[in-house]
Amino acid sequence: MTTIDLPLLPLGKGKDVNSERGVECPGDLPAASDPSLVERARAAKEALGERVFVLGHHYQRDEVIQFADVTGDSFKLARDAAARPDAEFIVFCGVHFMAESADILTAPTQKVILPDLAAGCSMADMARLAQVEDAWDAMVDAGIADSVVPVTYMNSSADIKAFCGKHGGAVCTSSNADAALEWAFEQKPDAKILFLPDQHLGRNTAVFKMGFTVDDCVVWNPRLPNGGNTVEELKAARMILWQGHCSVHGRFSEEVVDELRGKVPGINILVHPECKHEVVLKADFVGSTEYIIKKVEAAEPGTSWAIGTELNLVKRLAAAHPDKNIVFLDKNVCYCSTMNRIDLPHLVWALESLVRGEVVNRITVDPVTAAHARTALDRMLALA
Ligand code: 13P
Ligand code: SF4
Repeated sequence: MTTIDLPLLPLGKGKDVNSERGVECPGDLPAASDPSLVERARAAKEALGERVFVLGHHYQRDEVIQFADVTGDSFKLARDAAARPDAEFIVFCGVHFMAESADILTAPTQKVILPDLAAGCSMADMARLAQVEDAWDAMVDAGIADSVVPVTYMNSSADIKAFCGKHGGAVCTSSNADAALEWAFEQKPDAKILFLPDQHLGRNTAVFKMGFTVDDCVVWNPRLPNGGNTVEELKAARMILWQGHCSVHGRFSEEVVDELRGKVPGINILVHPECKHEVVLKADFVGSTEYIIKKVEAAEPGTSWAIGTELNLVKRLAAAHPDKNIVFLDKNVCYCSTMNRIDLPHLVWALESLVRGEVVNRITVDPVTAAHARTALDRMLALA
C-alpha cells in the first residue's frame, strides 16, 4: 500500500440544508440516522415494481448506488433512460443536467425525479444561455459565426443543449467527445468549434484525440469583450473553449502525480478528461468514468493505480479490487458535493412519496427547449 491513503472523512448528512439554494423538500425528510432507511428504500422500490426505474451515476454514494437498477456514466445513463419507455417514473440519482436530459429523451408520460433539487453542477452553471447568446453575437460581429459549430458537454443545462441544437451543433459526453468533434469538423468547411462549458475536456480532446496543439485553442471568458481574444485570434483558432471547469477534477495536480511516481514505482495514473491539461499530459490513461472502471477491472492483480476522478467512485473501485493497489490522486477529500446531495433520506423520501401517489421533485424541460435540445442529443446518440 502506498503512503497516500484514501481519505475517509465522514460526510455531513442528516438535516436538509437545501434552503441555501432556496430549495426545500415538501413533507418530512427521514432522518439520516434512521436505522430502517435501507429497509424503507427496499420496500418502496418493491411496492413500485416495474413502474420505477432508478438510475445511478458512478459518483453517487454507496448508500444510494445499491438501489440503482443501472449504473453508468452520463452517456450510458442517457441511453438507459431512453431505453425504458415502460417505466412510469425515472428516479435519477445524479445531478440536475442528467435528469433534464432524461426528461428530454423519455416519453412525455414518463416522470423524471431528482431526489434532491439542490443536486446541481457548478460546471453546468458556468455557461448561462444569455452569456452564450452574447458570445454568439460577438462571433457574428467578428465575422466567424458562419464557420462555428457549437458542441456542448452533457454537463450543461437544457437551454445550452437547445442552443447547440438550433445552431447546427451537438451534445457530447466524456465517452464520445472525440467522435463529436470529428462530426462537428465535418459540418462546415474550415469549421471551428465552440466547446461548452468545460475547457479541459475540450482542450484535452482536441490535443490528445484530434492532433491539435494548445495554440489551436483559445479560451472564451464570458466576462470580457470577444471572450478576451482579438478578432485575429478568433479567426485563427480551431477550438473556442468556454471558460468553465469542474471544481472537483480541477483539484488534481501535477505535483501529486510526480510525488506518487516517486513513491510507487510502476504506478499507473488514470484520470478523467475533466482534469487540467497539465495533469492529463502526465497521466498514463485518460477516459470517462465508464472507461476508468473498465481499465481497473482489466488490470493485473498487484498493479498500482492512482485515480483522478470523484472520490465515491475511487473508494468503490478500491473496495471492489483488493488485489490491486488503488489510491486517490489527491491528498484531500474530493467528493462532488452536489452529487453527494442525493443521500438515502432523499431517495427514501422520493420513493415513498411515489408509493403514496405523490410525484415530488419532477424535472421537466419546456417543450420548445426540449425539441431543440433533443436535436443536439440525437446527433450525439447517432455517433455512438
Ligand atoms: P462522465 O459521467 O461523462 O464520466 O462525467 C463525469 C462527470 O463529471 C459527471 O458529472
Ligand atoms: Fe459537475 Fe464536476 Fe460534480 Fe460532475 S463532478 S457534477 S462536472 S461538479
